[in-house]
Amino acid sequence: MTRRRTGDAKVDTAKGGSMWGGRFAGGLDPFFAEFQKSLTVDHVLAFADLEQNLVWSEALAGAGVFTPDELASVHAAIDDVAETWQAKGVPVQDPAEDVHSLVEREIVARCGELGKRIHTGRSRNDQVATDLRMWLRARLGGVNDAIHAVCRALVAKATTHAADPMPGYTHLQRAQPITIGHHALAHVEALFRDRERLLQATERMDECPLGSGALAGTTARVDRDAIAAKLAFASGPTRNSLDATAARDHLCEIAFVCAMTCTHLSRLAEDYVFFASQEARFLRFGDAVSTGSSLMPQKRNPDAMELVRGKAARVQGALLALLGTVKGLPMAYNRDLQTDKETLIPAIAETEACLRVAALAVQHAEFDTAHCAREAERGHLNATDLADLLVQAGVAFRDAHEIVGRAVNRAIELGVELQDLPADERRTLLPQIDVDLRQALSARTVLERRSVIGGTAPRNVAAEARRWNQLLAAFERAAATEIE
Ligand code: ARG
Repeated sequence: MTRRRTGDAKVDTAKGGSMWGGRFAGGLDPFFAEFQKSLTVDHVLAFADLEQNLVWSEALAGAGVFTPDELASVHAAIDDVAETWQAKGVPVQDPAEDVHSLVEREIVARCGELGKRIHTGRSRNDQVATDLRMWLRARLGGVNDAIHAVCRALVAKATTHAADPMPGYTHLQRAQPITIGHHALAHVEALFRDRERLLQATERMDECPLGSGALAGTTARVDRDAIAAKLAFASGPTRNSLDATAARDHLCEIAFVCAMTCTHLSRLAEDYVFFASQEARFLRFGDAVSTGSSLMPQKRNPDAMELVRGKAARVQGALLALLGTVKGLPMAYNRDLQTDKETLIPAIAETEACLRVAALAVQHAEFDTAHCAREAERGHLNATDLADLLVQAGVAFRDAHEIVGRAVNRAIELGVELQDLPADERRTLLPQIDVDLRQALSARTVLERRSVIGGTAPRNVAAEARRWNQLLAAFERAAATEIE
């Protein structure tokens, strides 16, 4: 490739492995040359790209581009690049524009002229689309495992505290007693839906774009079914070359799952930060996840969960950035799409890190069960149950609601709980019932009455915790056999 050097201000992009020099006489402006590079981000695709090159060169051999001997040389070159990078790492600071040009240059460096044929009938547009799907499906396993780890930690809490009462809130006002275990499993439900979403999104993108060319489909006589099978895409080849090279909805979907997961973690974090406050004192974070203040010696701050809550915002930002990137793009590939990786890759890493830290924070959160239980008995959390008692005695619920409202007012005036109203007050306020309120309105009784499916009764929570334990164990066994 001949290039007219126009002085030091220009960069010799040929040196960086440019794949498109023929039509150009001048080099790139150095600032733009740096600006348009993506190797520092897309180097993570290196091994997916090498694997793709193995399969693509095989497909090209089938199309007559390489003889079997030539294919063997090309494969030896690819294997050598892979071994070198496995040993020494991928040269992230290389002047190559992107990972695809870096890989091709290294193959050519090892098998010369033969290597120059490897891009026959392929475009970086179908190449990057394929690499990214391959990389994602491997990478998302880590996020999946990390969601699992948080669920494990929460289910352990639920198992320990299936019967331990604590105040439940709506509007951050004390509402009704719940069990600590019920609260933990609420977060498991949400996170497990995220896990399912992640699997569904991974499944949906399980189609192979390779062979779509730049936009219109390759002219090489390759067998796309065989390519898809060799690259382990379960749903075969993509069905439209324009869509295959232009589509990034799978990235948006993954970004959504990450954003939703982090949003769920953020709600968990907010709960635990509040639980750890002096005002609530429901739990105490262990030293492993707490930090002190540089000034105030008495402080013990819940920074782990606060950072999880804070970082969720950045992951939400990634979803918006990706949607914004694809919003105005004409069919099919546009260079804007290169930025997808800059957005998504760190968001995935951040999501996984938040999950790992949240799991730690849950593990190192020690509930003060005695205090939680005492607090579950305070604040008239059993008012609904008193109304239920009146209903049982034949009072219409709306009237019962009114009667108990007045009883609560009186109890507040007297500074007592409903079950502790003096006998004469009770006779005036609640003439319809004559039961032992201390027993009928205890947190224990209140909890046990909610034995409906999905309710907070300790027996239910224990059963749900067992169900989750079994489910998680089954996933762990399946994962272990996959590894074997
Ligand atoms: N590095 C690019 C990306 O990630 C692929 C290169 C395609 N470039 C092009 N001009 N068509 O999107």
